[in-house]
Amino acid sequence: MTDGMAGKVVLVSGGGSGIGRASARALARAGAAVAVADLTRESAAATVAEIVALGGRAVALAGDVSRESDVVALIEAARAAFGRLDGAFNNAGISPAAVGSAGVPIAALPEAAFQRVIAVNLAGVFLCLKHEITALAREAGGAIVNTASVAGLVGLAGSGAYVASKHGVIGLTRTAALENAAVGIRVNAVCPGYIDTPMVAPHMPARGPDILGKVPFARLGRADEIAELVLWLLSDRASFVTGAAYVADGGYSAA
Ligand SMILES: NC(=O)c1ccc[n+]([C@@H]2O[C@H](COP(=O)([O-])OP(=O)(O)OC[C@H]3O[C@@H](n4cnc5c(N)ncnc54)[C@H](O)[C@@H]3O)[C@@H](O)[C@H]2O)c1
Repeated sequence: MTDGMAGKVVLVSGGGSGIGRASARALARAGAAVAVADLTRESAAATVAEIVALGGRAVALAGDVSRESDVVALIEAARAAFGRLDGAFNNAGISPAAVGSAGVPIAALPEAAFQRVIAVNLAGVFLCLKHEITALAREAGGAIVNTASVAGLVGLAGSGAYVASKHGVIGLTRTAALENAAVGIRVNAVCPGYIDTPMVAPHMPARGPDILGKVPFARLGRADEIAELVLWLLSDRASFVTGAAYVADGGYSAA
């Protein structure tokens, strides 16, 4: 099956786990060649192995999206592997727990923890956008999707840095869409609610009832449910869509 992605080359950051892995798989199933990037080559390679087993094409890349030189190298490596770049899913991100500040209110949040979340989740998307836009302009257009969150739309007590980073991703998305509409580059964001990935699953034993109590569907989303949206936004089927932030959250933000 090729859902309008045949012959296209897409770079997926954070592709070694969770939403990124599911999206890389969905893109490959739809006919795209996928450059799977993550902090470690091992995690990216595990996703590539799944894609190859499905009969798809993919390459594993390692790099830290918070470092500009790594971002440049990732984009060059994707182009070198498949000869062009048509799209990107800027999805790498960390939660407050990754910097030891899960549930810590702003008044007690160490600056270093705040800065690291912003460096990965917001500056990382900025750096990817900056260099991807240059690469896509060479191909006369393309599509980019950034992973924001419902935390990009509402506040969340105890997650100040994460909320700020994800609100920022939506602002960058809208601005990049305006700046690049005339050159045929669409830029959109996805705003997942609580999704069953390694970022969220470890918190479910302690916080499960609290989290699910706020989700009208009363369950976590699946990574492949976000991948469907990412695939559509990256495909030509979304040809009139740019500057949008699409929510997929089981009703969480409808309240
Ligand atoms: N799981 C959820 O409930 C949820 C909800 C809303 C938004 N999100 C966002 O979705 C995205 C994917 O998260 P996930 O749930 O799949 O989590 P995950 O932890 O399974 O995957 C995130 C991936 O990003 C990679 N990564 C982290 N820092 C990086 C860096 N500096 N450079 C390159 N790669 C890096 C990790 O190694 C990991 O493979 C994140 O941006 C996250 O904030 C997740």
